[in-house]
Amino acid sequence: MGCGPRENGADRRVEIRVEDLHKSFGGRAVLCGVELEIRQGEIVAVVGGSGAGKTVLLDHMVGLLTPDRGRVLVADHGRRGRPLVDLGALDEAGLDRVRRHWAVVFQKNALFSGTVFQNIALWLKENTDLSATQIYDRVRDALDAVGFEGDDSILTKTRGELSGGMAKRVAVARAIAMSPAIIFYDEPTTGLDPQNAAKIHELICATHERARRENGGQTSVIITHDKDLLHRLRPRIVMLHLGRVFFDGAYEAFERSDSEIVRPYFELMPMLNQAPIPE
Ligand SMILES: Nc1ncnc2c1ncn2[C@@H]1O[C@H](COP(=O)(O)OP(=O)(O)O)[C@@H](O)[C@H]1O
Ligand SMILES: [Mg+2]
Repeated sequence: MGCGPRENGADRRVEIRVEDLHKSFGGRAVLCGVELEIRQGEIVAVVGGSGAGKTVLLDHMVGLLTPDRGRVLVADHGRRGRPLVDLGALDEAGLDRVRRHWAVVFQKNALFSGTVFQNIALWLKENTDLSATQIYDRVRDALDAVGFEGDDSILTKTRGELSGGMAKRVAVARAIAMSPAIIFYDEPTTGLDPQNAAKIHELICATHERARRENGGQTSVIITHDKDLLHRLRPRIVMLHLGRVFFDGAYEAFERSDSEIVRPYFELMPMLNQAPIPE
C-alpha cells in the first residue's frame, strides 16, 4: 500500500510550477527546459542518474539558485489566497516569507554545531511566537515522531555524536517541527543500512499522512534512487534525463516502463542508492 493521495489531484492548488528552466555551469548545460507542476498534497519523487540535475532543480525550487532562463513560481503561504509568485521577483523579505513554509532535509543533513535540541528549536525561536515550554514540547514531539520516544539523552547530543541514521532522523525531526506546507528530501536514504532506511521510509510516509489529517495536507518532494522507498510510497515519478523531464507519471507506469532510458536506470538504482554521500 502506498501512502500518496490516490485521488486525482488536478483540482488541487498548485504549490510549485517550474517553467522552461535552464541552468548551465561553466558552459555545461545541466537543465535545459524543465517543465514541472506540483500540486498540494502530492508526493513527487524526482529520479534520474547521478549528475542528472536533481539537486540543481531542488535548489531552484527553494530559491538557492537562480535560473539562466525560465522561472519558478511557488505558492506564497504568507499571503491571503496563497497566490503563485515568481521566486526571481521576490525581495529578501518576500523570500523569507515563502521559505518559512518549507522545510528541506538536505542530502548531508546540514545540522549545525550545537545540540540536537538547539538544531530543532532555533528555527521555532526565530520564526514563531511559541513560548519556551511550547518550543520544548514541539521539539520533543518531533523527536518522538522519528523514533526517539523516551530518550532524553538525544536532546543534548551534538552532531558529531550521531550515527548516519540518527543524524538523518534528527534532520527529519527538525523539518517536521516546522509544520511545513512543503517538505523536500534530498536522497534521504542514500548510504543508510536497510534497517535505518526502512525507518526513514515509514517516517516520510507517516509525516505525510499526519499532515494530511492535521492541517489539510503537506506536499512532499523526494529526490531518491531508493526502489524500496518508491515501492512503499508509490509516488508520482518525475525522471530527469538530458536536462529535461523524461518521464512524468505514476510509479506503476514507471516500474513497468520498457523505455530504453528508464530500464537501465531502474536496474542501476540499488547501486546508486548504496553510494556513499559525497563530501
Ligand atoms: N554550483 C555548481 N557549480 C558547478 N557545477 C555544478 C554546481 N552544482 C551542480 N553542478 C553540476 O551540475 C550537475 C548536476 O548536479 P546535481 O544536480 O547535483 O546532480 P544530481 O542529479 O546527482 O543531484 C553535475 O554535473 C554537477 O557537477
Ligand atoms: Mg544530488
